[in-house]
Amino acid sequence: MRMVNGAEMDQVMNQEKASSFPSASKSPVSGTRPVSGTRPVSGTRPVSGTRPVSGTRILGIETSCDETAAAVIEDGRLILSNCVASQVELHARFGGVFPEVASRQHIRTILPIIEEALQQAHMSLGEIGAVAVTRGPGLPGSLVVGMNTAKGIVLGSGLPLLGINHLEAHIYSAWLAAHPPQRTTAGDMQVNEQLPLPPEPRFPLLVLIVSGGHSELILMKGHLDYERLGATLDDAAGEAFDKVARLIGLGYPGGPAIQEASASGDPRAFKFPRAWLEGSWDFSFSGLKTAVLREVRDLQRVYDTLPAADLAASFQAAVVEVLVGKAFKAASAFGAAEILVAGGVSANMALRGALHAQADFPVHIPPIALCTDNAAMVASAGYYRFTAGQQDGLDMDILPNWPLSEV
Ligand code: KG4
Ligand code: ZN
Repeated sequence: MRMVNGAEMDQVMNQEKASSFPSASKSPVSGTRPVSGTRPVSGTRPVSGTRPVSGTRILGIETSCDETAAAVIEDGRLILSNCVASQVELHARFGGVFPEVASRQHIRTILPIIEEALQQAHMSLGEIGAVAVTRGPGLPGSLVVGMNTAKGIVLGSGLPLLGINHLEAHIYSAWLAAHPPQRTTAGDMQVNEQLPLPPEPRFPLLVLIVSGGHSELILMKGHLDYERLGATLDDAAGEAFDKVARLIGLGYPGGPAIQEASASGDPRAFKFPRAWLEGSWDFSFSGLKTAVLREVRDLQRVYDTLPAADLAASFQAAVVEVLVGKAFKAASAFGAAEILVAGGVSANMALRGALHAQADFPVHIPPIALCTDNAAMVASAGYYRFTAGQQDGLDMDILPNWPLSEV
């Protein structure tokens, strides 16, 4: 992710006058929204071909960056509710995430979003089996808000507490089903068996995580079992999207802005470099970013307006080619059965298209709404950890730099 520093924030604040600093009474966050592809459970008649929901429900809480999120998940896969309060509008004027603003907004939003998630799932805390919360990696001031809220709930309810790695949570977003069970008029939750769960990813699994803070290639040999093959040496893929969007004058967040601009651009217009880093499973995106910067400077010397669509499409093509090329090469090299791609950048349509266009490996990519940060994925990972016997104490601290290899 692109992080805003104090000097940049001062600049924005001076422009806007400090008096307009976001306050609880005029929060720019546009309220909470159910993630698309999920919907509140509502009263429906029991229909044939349904079965009751009766498994383990996990309440998930996510506040690692700039989304305040809560969700209730049944048996690791079924979404009963999934609520996200995005702070994107709040940070857009800074051109990136401003950490202190993020923490303060989490404080305002966390309790309403948890209440909403329970309400949409038609659950009380008494029907929940455990509370799973993101422990790291992430922004310290954001993580503590979710962590302390989870501890408060656990202290008051006696429920088990689980600290979850955010990268592991992104991986488990591929296990989630976007069609939730329905509540019948009798009040039972029913799963429609005519809407089967999507197939579970099969091990050994080659995992590519591409988010605002991470780009990692992982070999997952079984549930909760990870071998890190490589990672970015500099910028994360999402961070590159955010920074390049800024360079070519597109909005924040950069990923969706670049994708949109690319739609009318020519991916062959500019020949940007591909850092293959032969002999390693690492990535590097800073050379590509610098190449875009040089091109922008050259163009600005000659033209009044930048060919933003062509620049965006050419940049996007370079990122997608390397991500897809390395993921498939690693899957072959390590004998993976399937490929799983997750994290905010996996929402990118060009990347999804390129991954699905090949026939070498079955590919799992979460539905778009589950690619960016959400709490359903935290609850899903929480379920697999809970059933494996994990339980954390009330003295659990956040881990802002927690690598997946150390979970
Ligand atoms: O996973 P995520 O929500 O947060 C982190 O854990 O970092 O990822 C956010 C990142 C941002 O850098 C954003 O620009 C990028 O995901 N992103 C995209 C798209 N949607 C979000 N990048 C490319 N194309 C998209 N459609
Ligand atoms: Zn994330």
